[in-house]
Amino acid sequence: MTTGPLILGIETSCDETGVAVVSGGEVLATVLSSQVDAHARFGGVVPEIAARAHIEAIRPMVHLALRRAGVHSDQLDAVAATRGPGLVGALMVGYSFGKAMAWTLGAPFVGIDHMEGHLFAPRLEHVDFVPPAVVLLASGGHSQIVHVREWGDYEILGSTIDDAAGEAFDKIARFMGLGFPGGPVLDRAAEGGDPDIVKFPRALRERPYHFSFSGLKTSVVTFLEKAKAAGNVPPLADVAAAVQEAIVDVLVDKTFNAVEATGVERVAGGGGVLANRRLRERFREEANRRGVALHLPSPALCTDNGAMIAAAGEFHLKRGDVTPWIADVSSSLRLGAS
Ligand code: KG4
Ligand code: ZN
Repeated sequence: MTTGPLILGIETSCDETGVAVVSGGEVLATVLSSQVDAHARFGGVVPEIAARAHIEAIRPMVHLALRRAGVHSDQLDAVAATRGPGLVGALMVGYSFGKAMAWTLGAPFVGIDHMEGHLFAPRLEHVDFVPPAVVLLASGGHSQIVHVREWGDYEILGSTIDDAAGEAFDKIARFMGLGFPGGPVLDRAAEGGDPDIVKFPRALRERPYHFSFSGLKTSVVTFLEKAKAAGNVPPLADVAAAVQEAIVDVLVDKTFNAVEATGVERVAGGGGVLANRRLRERFREEANRRGVALHLPSPALCTDNGAMIAAAGEFHLKRGDVTPWIADVSSSLRLGAS
């Protein structure tokens, strides 16, 4: 028996159609239709293709999630869907579908900030994850260090001034000819590599919580071009490991700067980059060393999924934050801005 309202969560902000049924913070079913193959030959997500693929997937995915959860749509207490940020055409598919479904069922509809969804992901597996906490959010479009004072009360301590961490993984992997999406391929390529063959720059040391990754990209390009010209290109695994270490280093350093400054006893993470194995290892080491509790979602809940949207939806529903029917998607929604 579940202990909370039954929430359907829909995520379509980028290239994954994620649908889940959650109740009382428990995931009853979560399904995902990935579009990786459709975008791979373009080396990145093509917004038009993403929107069309969501249109094809949304209905079967919703049916599949309900069936796996053993729930009939009539039983749902609310429908939650990602409202932004993300690709506007992609967002519109899940958001409109969710809104229409809620309307038809006579149930409340809750539009969710995608990044707040990532904040809620650790809670699905860690019941002891309660604020105050510092959370690193690192995805393809955003990198933020958030001081979660309370659920719904977020202080953004730092963010990227140029590329997001996931974007850095994606762009550098693409330049290295590793394929798409760059994060997971670079993670695998770095296996067994020696990260010390070259030390790429760690930018913005002087700003404790802010990130900058575009200089790293330039420095990897320059390094590889010089190495090629000299006929002296190091093994791919070593270069990948050095790139990964440069990104992971700053993410870990700055997150723990925030842990220290705020004095919180819990640290967590969310977003696709938190699936990175080296980052997870470094987070574990650092949290242990400092004696703070660490709450990392399992990798499948770090990347985009419907369960985190349903979890955030459950929180907002309980607070009475129901989204008006006239509200539309907002591709530039910013966490902590409202
Ligand atoms: O949160 P997410 O699934 O989607 C967005 O909201 O953007 O994050 C996707 C990002 C991509 O940039 C992807 O390359 C990165 O997360 N990513 C990883 C790993 N898995 C996904 N980055 C590093 N290592 C990984 N294992
Ligand atoms: Zn995401």
